[in-house]
Amino acid sequence: MRAGLLRTSLLPGLTLANPVLSASGCYNHGVEGARFGDVKRLGALVTKTVTPRPRAGNPPPRLWETSAGMLNSIGLENPGVERFLAEEMPRALELGPPVILNVGGESLEEFEQVTERVQDCGAVALEVNLSCPNVQGGQLPFATSPAACEEVVGRVRRVSRLPFFVKLSPNTHLVADVARAAASAGADGLTLINTLHGRGIDWRRRRPCLAEGSGGLSGPAIKPVALHFVALVRAAVRLPILGVGGIATAEDVCEFLVAGASAVQVGTAHFLDPLCGVHIVEELEELLVAEGESIDNLSSLEQ
Ligand SMILES: Cc1cc2nc3c(=O)[nH]c(=O)nc-3n(C[C@H](O)[C@H](O)[C@H](O)COP(=O)(O)O)c2cc1C
Repeated sequence: MRAGLLRTSLLPGLTLANPVLSASGCYNHGVEGARFGDVKRLGALVTKTVTPRPRAGNPPPRLWETSAGMLNSIGLENPGVERFLAEEMPRALELGPPVILNVGGESLEEFEQVTERVQDCGAVALEVNLSCPNVQGGQLPFATSPAACEEVVGRVRRVSRLPFFVKLSPNTHLVADVARAAASAGADGLTLINTLHGRGIDWRRRRPCLAEGSGGLSGPAIKPVALHFVALVRAAVRLPILGVGGIATAEDVCEFLVAGASAVQVGTAHFLDPLCGVHIVEELEELLVAEGESIDNLSSLEQ
């Protein structure tokens, strides 16, 4: 291991040992991965979205494998912020890597409430998931409207002493506008992308494969979409970006860094190999040495 080769400066005051993070919702806060091996080598752990109140999530089936990825309609199942802080956050912190806490809500007040509640929980930063249903503005997520995004990010900014990334949805033609709105309302960074709308059909039974009908597509199929949005948003906004979508190898990481990401997250690939992220860290180190490259050379963000 070459000390410092993968060191990644994400935000002022927040430097990670490497740019490979786990993605929200795909890793049970790292606890499941830790049953298979040492997850200490990940750059950071990103927790599953936690909301002020417990959510039961959607009925099964809520996962469906596709030819190049996976559909899910988990529905933000989580125990609510109080139980999360008491039971799950301590276990995530024990694993070693810095923890980025992902928060969500169904209204402006809920975003504010959950953000305030988690300020002193040990997380190094927050990730604000705007893809939750927006009860106030109908069922559209906050991530599809620049105005709604600006309002919710402004509310989070007012109560957060922690730096935060805003996680954007690809399911709008306004991604760059939503990104600008998040930046102007005070976000420290952006995460993109969340899953794409998708649907599987069981034609013999004449019904959708997921109980909810539609779900979110993730995995290798969405990598080109994620690369596109990272590059598009990089051109529009000068904030650090966490790139996510279909990443499974060190080569994928390099592609995202060149597209404009400062670091990346690994999601669906962890369902195939719970230590995929750790393996990517090892491969990335070897790849950079072999190619005579460095993280700074690949990342286009001016520091
Ligand atoms: C089963 C599953 C659950 C997820 N849960 C969340 C979640 O709670 N919060 C969130 O912000 N993103 C969630 N995501 C989205 C992922 O964090 C990621 O943005 C997306 O899956 C794309 O990355 P990937 O192709 O590497 O999986 C979930 C994805 C999957 C597959």
